[in-house]
Amino acid sequence: MANSVRRVGLLFGMEDTFPWALARAIDERGGGEIVGVPVEVSALRDSQDFDYALILDRISHEVPFYRTFLKVANARGVQVVNNPFWWSADDKYFGNVVAAQVGVETPRTMLLPHKHRPPNTEASSFRNLKFVDWQAVFAYLGFPIFLKPAYGGGWKDVYKADDKGAFFAAYDQSRDLTMMAQEAIDFTEYFRIYTIGRERVHVMRYDPRLPHHARYVTDGPPIEPALEARLRRDALALSQALGYDMNTVELAVRDGIPYAIDFTNPAPDADASSIGETNFAWIVENMADVLIERVRNPRPFEFTGSWSRGLLAPGAV
Ligand SMILES: Nc1ncnc2c1ncn2[C@@H]1O[C@H](COP(=O)(O)OP(=O)(O)O)[C@@H](O)[C@H]1O
Ligand SMILES: [Mg+2]
Repeated sequence: MANSVRRVGLLFGMEDTFPWALARAIDERGGGEIVGVPVEVSALRDSQDFDYALILDRISHEVPFYRTFLKVANARGVQVVNNPFWWSADDKYFGNVVAAQVGVETPRTMLLPHKHRPPNTEASSFRNLKFVDWQAVFAYLGFPIFLKPAYGGGWKDVYKADDKGAFFAAYDQSRDLTMMAQEAIDFTEYFRIYTIGRERVHVMRYDPRLPHHARYVTDGPPIEPALEARLRRDALALSQALGYDMNTVELAVRDGIPYAIDFTNPAPDADASSIGETNFAWIVENMADVLIERVRNPRPFEFTGSWSRGLLAPGAV
């Protein structure tokens, strides 16, 4: 019966390999009951119905109109991957709080006030703000220091500063972004890890020091088993705590300990040309399976993953 077919809607932007391959994989695996289709969206009426069992969101971080569309769809019973409510609240600096809750190491990090005033503010908007003691920042972090936006991605506005001069040159360019300053991890190995459905894990060796096309290392040495177990545990713990069903976690290893560098990526790169054939096949197949599983076994509405369960009881501080 045609109208019993359940649709997985794909909402995406310029990417041109992953969505089409995923739609095909969903069709192949969905047994004629579940199909993958591009979402169609236009002006949204209050009472509008949504003809999707699930929507995979790859682009609402760039298109605020889509974010609100997804929040409404989610509230009306559509499964949305990833959670548009938590995605809106999440940021990289807060992510370190989540990491601490689940026993994952992060580099020492400080959140900095904006270099330039955000729109619609003036000097008197900042009567609560005190001057930063930069010597204390440098003493806490030590050089080199990474400067990067708390609401960021895609290596945009990421700087590595070896000394105070380079630090301020970078900070001075940071406009009104919310920047964080972070201890640089001098790593021996670096991994980028897909976590799908909060249970499937795919560990990829990644060398951020190489040019873009060569970063996903396909011919690296095997990963030492105890380290691999730790990488898998850490990546899953983070994605479960965050409640992300599609995520990448970047872990840099120093003295045998993985440090979480970048792990709030609800629309991670999944382009065939950057991740390579083997990784692409993995993400397409596993994503299709997990989305089909979610359509068959929907999750109850949720705002976040599990991180808030570990919070201190009220009055404990
Ligand atoms: N604390 C750090 N120590 C070492 N390398 C870092 C650190 N922070 C960022 N980097 C490097 O900079 C790159 C981009 O930073 P990242 O936090 O991943 O930002 P984005 O979300 O823009 O990808 C990382 O892939 C890593 O190579
Ligand atoms: Mg990154």
